[in-house]
Amino acid sequence: MSESLSHVSSPPASAGSSAGSAAAGKARPRVAIVGGGVIGLALAWRLAEACCPVDLFEAGETGRGASHAAAGMLAACAEAEPGEEGLLALNRASQILWPAFAAELERASGERVDLRTEGTLTIALTADDLAKLRHLYAFQQGLGLPVQWLTAAEVRRREPYLAPRLAGGVLSPEDHQVDNRKVAAALKIAALKAGARLHEHTPVQRVATAGARVTGVVSGDVHHGADVVVLAAGAWSRAVDITPAPPLPVRPIKGQMLALRMDPAAPILSHVLWAPGSYLVPRRDGRLIVGATTEEKGFDPDLTAGGQLALLTHAWRALPTLEELSIIEQWVGFRPGSRDDAPILGPSPEVDGLVYATGHHRNGILLLPVTTDVIADQILTGRMADVAAPFGAARFQPPRAAAE
Ligand code: FAD
Ligand code: GLY
Repeated sequence: MSESLSHVSSPPASAGSSAGSAAAGKARPRVAIVGGGVIGLALAWRLAEACCPVDLFEAGETGRGASHAAAGMLAACAEAEPGEEGLLALNRASQILWPAFAAELERASGERVDLRTEGTLTIALTADDLAKLRHLYAFQQGLGLPVQWLTAAEVRRREPYLAPRLAGGVLSPEDHQVDNRKVAAALKIAALKAGARLHEHTPVQRVATAGARVTGVVSGDVHHGADVVVLAAGAWSRAVDITPAPPLPVRPIKGQMLALRMDPAAPILSHVLWAPGSYLVPRRDGRLIVGATTEEKGFDPDLTAGGQLALLTHAWRALPTLEELSIIEQWVGFRPGSRDDAPILGPSPEVDGLVYATGHHRNGILLLPVTTDVIADQILTGRMADVAAPFGAARFQPPRAAAE
């Protein structure tokens, strides 16, 4: 790189020495990553470890987008939806990778990410909720997912503070949770230690091309050369000019959340809880996350009384004692939603060297390990793993263009 860019975090002197040795000596592509959420940071880490020269460009500070806003649920089973069976296979593949990914990240960064393995409870409070839950349970069972029906008494044995009018529940023992903010912080450290250069406060306006091949990225009037460009700009991915490729069909899906403070020595909840109208996620440090609204309002940053009231009302119906807790934070985040709610993964059909890792919608934390593996492997070997093959950008092309 000839140009100098502002706000660069450079790797420590010893960076890249350990994991890099296996790949040392081979020619590796220079990689520019656009976006410093968990997806961009994990790819920076993984590719720098494989001896690629990596520059990550982040419009603001790394880890402050959706990756900061999320609840950290790894809920492949509880969030399974009819019509999304293909996505379920990807979600489950990633869920299985999470324990090893968390351990590797903790080793590489020296930081904890608080993967909790109590599992997830989905509960019903009324007869109507119970009918819906039975329907969901039958659907989950039909897919062969590991779920277990529980009577109200069995649910209460696991979570004694739940509302007395509990009607029943489903336990998803493999739906764990992780502290997504700690994950983002650990990934930043791991990426820097591996040798990646992080350029914060450096928005990328466009991917530079010559013919139909990338030459790098442009930030302000600076061209930064690269052989491969990864677009991992989350809900903002559509705003990056990737001509001659068409803009990606990614839009922001607003979510409001809030956090309450429990006594960490006497928490009132230990499982992730899906209650009618809200979910609750207890953290080790005593934070109790309550989420989330789903709003089509573009990048509207406002917290609303209605949104917060709805979350608190639904959460309170399930767990009445939370009315004693202090509110410690309220926030808004933007899920990167694609046209079919599934991620966009792999090489651009139009531009050589441009790779997509975006559109993770409600599941970007869950999908982090599989995205990292699949995209890093594609860049290093040219192979696209079967499990991710259905999620290329070509699925959004008009049928005639796709056939040509
Ligand atoms: P982001 O974290 O948004 O990162 C994108 C980054 O790109 C940002 O830092 C942004 O500043 C940067 N950027 C944008 N444009 C540019 C540019 N032009 N140049 C340089 N940088 C740029 N997922 C789960 O799996 N489990 C959950 O429980 C969960 N809960 C959620 C709850 C809420 C309320 C929300 C909003 C999301 C939730 N998600 C959850 C979804 C998850 O947060 C996202 O799918 C995931 O964080 C996406 O990661 P990302 O790195 O692609 O995006
Ligand atoms: N996956 C939870 C959410 O997006 O709110």
